[in-house]
Amino acid sequence: MTQRKGIILAGGSGTRLYPLTMAVSKQLMPIYDKPMIFYPLSIVMLAGVREVAIITTPEDQAQFRRLLGDGSQWGMSFEYIEQPSPDGLAQAYLLAEDFLDGAPSVMVLGDNIFFGHDLPKMLRSADERADGGTVFGYHVAEPQHYGVVGFDANGQANQIIEKPSEPPSNFAVTGLYFLDGDAPRRAKEIKPSARGELEITSLLETYLGEGTLSVETMGRGFAWLDTGTHGSLLDAGNFVRTLSLRQGMLVGSPEEIAFDNGWIDEVQLRERAELFGKTDYGAYLQRLLVR
Ligand code: DAU
Repeated sequence: MTQRKGIILAGGSGTRLYPLTMAVSKQLMPIYDKPMIFYPLSIVMLAGVREVAIITTPEDQAQFRRLLGDGSQWGMSFEYIEQPSPDGLAQAYLLAEDFLDGAPSVMVLGDNIFFGHDLPKMLRSADERADGGTVFGYHVAEPQHYGVVGFDANGQANQIIEKPSEPPSNFAVTGLYFLDGDAPRRAKEIKPSARGELEITSLLETYLGEGTLSVETMGRGFAWLDTGTHGSLLDAGNFVRTLSLRQGMLVGSPEEIAFDNGWIDEVQLRERAELFGKTDYGAYLQRLLVR
């Protein structure tokens, strides 16, 4: 199978977090000790994917470049793509068509945060499925705010509906999509929804209709956190802080994952640790060197 490539979708207007996001992109907001985008980036890295396109608004791209560079500090390679206006999640596959060049992809929304036991195993096995797609359903209290999965009598997923007023289940589709190399072609065929967006759910429906979409459930031992309001942003930060302090381990550190994956060596890790100086983050990376 062609090596899977990554997409992090980090555009959008962020108006629900105004005035916080009037001058800075939502996906650069702090989640405790790191910018938000580090968390979805770490998911792509845990899936074993090194080549990643980062899609942002034209105005915000310079700041993302300043933060993430060309990816070589983590043994990765990044390409930046502009999305002039937020015309829908499925548009990412059109914008990234040349970058993907026929390869299968894993796309993560830049504001999605995942945490859970055996998450890397789950990601690796989704990566191994060459044809069709894999998405993840997660039980939430208020499914009407998300894409929602409907199941038939045998428990097989048979529909995915965007923000239904009467949700067929409590399982929301998370913002993590493994799709095969056919996704850009399919994205060209879907029509904008009533709200004028190329919906990811319409793209997923094309796979579902053919029986090539696998809908995996993330159990209650996983955390899939929302960052859509001021309150949930703070809650996500507190969640990461609670875990980090209790365990004495970082959550979502690209340096640690790159080192564990063998993508950077001790010299490169030390450089990063020194860059972060006397912060707890830097001290943690220093400890990895003597582990
Ligand atoms: O988080 C999971 C949910 O994400 C899914 O369950 C839904 O099916 C999916 O449509 C999406 O719903 P949201 O209501 O969260 O979508 P939102 O418009 O808020 O966009 C999600 C992120 O993607 C947000 O950080 C902004 C970014 N974005 C969004 C659009 C529409 C872009 O970068 N470009 C876009 O065109």
